[in-house]
Amino acid sequence: MTRFDPSGPLHGSLRPPSDKSISHRAALIAAMGEGETVVEGYLDAADTRSTLAAVDALGARVVAGTETRTIAVSKNWTGPLPPVRSDLGLGLRIEGVGLRGARPAPIDVGNAGTLLRLLPGWLAGQEGGHWTLDGDESIRRRPVDRITVPLRRMGANLSCREDRLPPLEIEGTTLHGATYEMPIASAQVKSCLLFAGLLAGGETRVIESLPSRDHTERMLAAAGAPIERVDDAVVVRPVEQLQPDPIVVPADISSAAFFIAAALLVEQSDVVLFEVNVNPTRTGLLTILERMGAAIAVEDEREVGGEPIARLRVRSAPLQATEVGGVEIPLAIDELPLVALAACFAEGTTTIRDAAELRHKESDRIETVTAALRVLGGKVEATPDGMVIEGAGSLRGGAIDSHGDHRIAMLGAVAGLVSEEGVEVRGMDAAAVSYPGFERDLAALLSR
Ligand code: S3P
Repeated sequence: MTRFDPSGPLHGSLRPPSDKSISHRAALIAAMGEGETVVEGYLDAADTRSTLAAVDALGARVVAGTETRTIAVSKNWTGPLPPVRSDLGLGLRIEGVGLRGARPAPIDVGNAGTLLRLLPGWLAGQEGGHWTLDGDESIRRRPVDRITVPLRRMGANLSCREDRLPPLEIEGTTLHGATYEMPIASAQVKSCLLFAGLLAGGETRVIESLPSRDHTERMLAAAGAPIERVDDAVVVRPVEQLQPDPIVVPADISSAAFFIAAALLVEQSDVVLFEVNVNPTRTGLLTILERMGAAIAVEDEREVGGEPIARLRVRSAPLQATEVGGVEIPLAIDELPLVALAACFAEGTTTIRDAAELRHKESDRIETVTAALRVLGGKVEATPDGMVIEGAGSLRGGAIDSHGDHRIAMLGAVAGLVSEEGVEVRGMDAAAVSYPGFERDLAALLSR
């Protein structure tokens, strides 16, 4: 059990850990590439280590150097400097195996759903290869039919448990392009099919009715892949080889989100977060919180390595309830647990709908978030596709279980700070999946 007591304000500045989604893609696309790709700021966490181990097993050579990068602080910044951090991410050099050169191997994806869904897209079109993807207990509950159905339409030879769950077996074969309209917006499914399209005959067209994170499209385009957006579709054509640009991984808004929420909710807080990725397909949380009354300053915005980054300044503010649904859901999918927490402190009743996807994350997040917030005294009801949260202005506190889900563990920690009696989190170690230094960074912001 790890205890998080009611706290005084959060103060100071921080460069949150590097982006998990971008790190997974960096390792995979570098492995697909010809020659060496330099990756700066690769997230050093359990999930992204699984991806490095996977590309290594597939024959790519990963060399980790010393990270010497500094944090970019603009000239006119007069506020507190971000602390010097030991985990700005890893400096890597990845020697690719080429698009068609992956070595047959068993792959352990650990807890990483993104690796589980993205990697098969690359492997399925490599004729003659055989791979098995498996992972931990939570991975074995995560559906893969969302990728096997469209990949089979492209000719892929795949089998999995109950035709739906890992382990997933892949017999590499010749693929043909296809048009696929995703029933649910998913960047993982989209990315998987785009990878497959690089090796398929003809054109592959992935239609997404609602936009989802586009890091794969950006990184593939920078590596020279023939990829373009046409209305609500992403179209990719086969290519002989990829030449990835050097990749710089920005800070993860999904990890920054815990401090954004904490700073908003704990009175008199004032926190500055550096180098946060503000790709518009990831900033749904900011839009939602602003609608609830938060004033989050997005400063010094610029582009680094094909992704927009900015400095975020967050101060505490009283919040009003809101309605969240539709196009906003994929843009804030991993931050919806924090929206539910913020809603407990907002005036009025907040509704989150169209978010049934939350049931297929590292835990069933509609159930785990509802259960956790209710135990702590929140007035939350689960619905089939979301939650209804009655703002009570306070949370009593208590003990919750992370259910092995990193985002639930960190949600519990933030809840503890704003609770009346503190929160004990069972399974706090799950945070290491995306944010191994979370407790240390939180303590730093509380100690100033
Ligand atoms: C991710 C996409 C999202 C998100 C996950 C990471 C990605 O999943 O929840 O944490 O890196 O592509 P879906 O594509 O299933 O919505």
